[in-house]
Amino acid sequence: CLLDLLVSSRFASRFVRQFCTAMAGNFKVCVVGGAGGIGQPLSMLMAMDPNVSELCVYDLTMAMVPAEGVAADLSHLNMKCKVKGYAFDKDDKAIDKAGDCLTGCHLVLVPAGVPRKPGQDRKDLLNINAGIAKNIVEACAKFCPEAVVGLIVNPVNSVVPAMCEMWKKKGLNPAKIVGITTLDVVRADKFVHEMTGAPMSDVSVPVIGGHAGTTILPLFSQCQVGMTIPADKIPDLDKKVQDAGTVVVAAKNGKGSATLSMAYAGARLGKAVLAGLNGEVVTECAYVESKITDLPYFASKVTFGKQGVETVHPLGDLNDYEQGRLKALLPVLKEEIEAGLDYAKEND
Ligand code: NAD
Ligand code: LMR
Repeated sequence: CLLDLLVSSRFASRFVRQFCTAMAGNFKVCVVGGAGGIGQPLSMLMAMDPNVSELCVYDLTMAMVPAEGVAADLSHLNMKCKVKGYAFDKDDKAIDKAGDCLTGCHLVLVPAGVPRKPGQDRKDLLNINAGIAKNIVEACAKFCPEAVVGLIVNPVNSVVPAMCEMWKKKGLNPAKIVGITTLDVVRADKFVHEMTGAPMSDVSVPVIGGHAGTTILPLFSQCQVGMTIPADKIPDLDKKVQDAGTVVVAAKNGKGSATLSMAYAGARLGKAVLAGLNGEVVTECAYVESKITDLPYFASKVTFGKQGVETVHPLGDLNDYEQGRLKALLPVLKEEIEAGLDYAKEND
């Protein structure tokens, strides 16, 4: 075809590359907690996205590595994006200090927060991490109210409702607040690939519900490869996806939780959001305000477009096992959503 012919000459392939680059977006992205375990590799992966022209690495002055240092390091990648670092004192209010960093952002990714230690549940992190998220989200509401805000900070099940309520109270569009659950999809896909030997490119398991324990519900029946797995193997595989975060926490032995796989997953979601803003139509699972179940927040397939979240898709067909799991998870997720809504009320 014509494209093959074009690509076959060195000059022409440079032309095609330049044409594609010209089509890329020019978006400003901020990674808050960008000098942390997730933040550093996530910042690197976002700096490598051709849709990113400006990247801000935002962290505290007490971070393990200065944010300015991470930014100086990333600024030498031979990518088009300009990288700047911003460090703030832990008692600084982002709303007073982070204007330069956040103004003009199209996407703010938030892996700022405390990771859990062995023996802790994600929900044990609510008070400390919701306080951190609130400081940042309030500043986003002031300086970049049109940005998509991707929340990685745990407990996602409660922090997202808390931040979304705050956002809505300011008259802003709740569809801009996105809870990042992509790591559950990445894990489900990997485990199905390992079990079946099917090529990774053929595996795509939607994961719905929330991001903690039994609220994580992989729909293996909706994946062409997943549906070939014998029914008696599904409960263990399901549990393996639910427990994957805890396995990493145990293996890191008190020194944090998943960082590299989370950065990979967070960048996948971040790039999907930017592709959507740039006019492509991209679908990923994410935890958002939702009307597809009786719960006001739920993870399901979401299509990103020029406005951020454009469509929250219905769950599709669930088999008997998945329907049973869904019924059981709803009250658990409801309680975690309510904890977030209570936080929002108490910290108005
Ligand atoms: P980390 O401690 O390595 O990094 C967190 C960074 O946030 C640190 O550099 C810290 O200085 C910074 N920070 C803290 N308070 C801040 C504030 N007010 N403003 C700006 N920066 C601030 O932790 P990590 O391993 O990167 O994990 C971060 C969070 O992500 C944790 O809450 C963890 O539970 C969560 N997490 C979520 C998922 C998911 O699937 N959604 C996966 C893994 C981890
Ligand atoms: C994960 O799933 O890896 C994260 O939510 C971190 C954790 O605490 O397990």
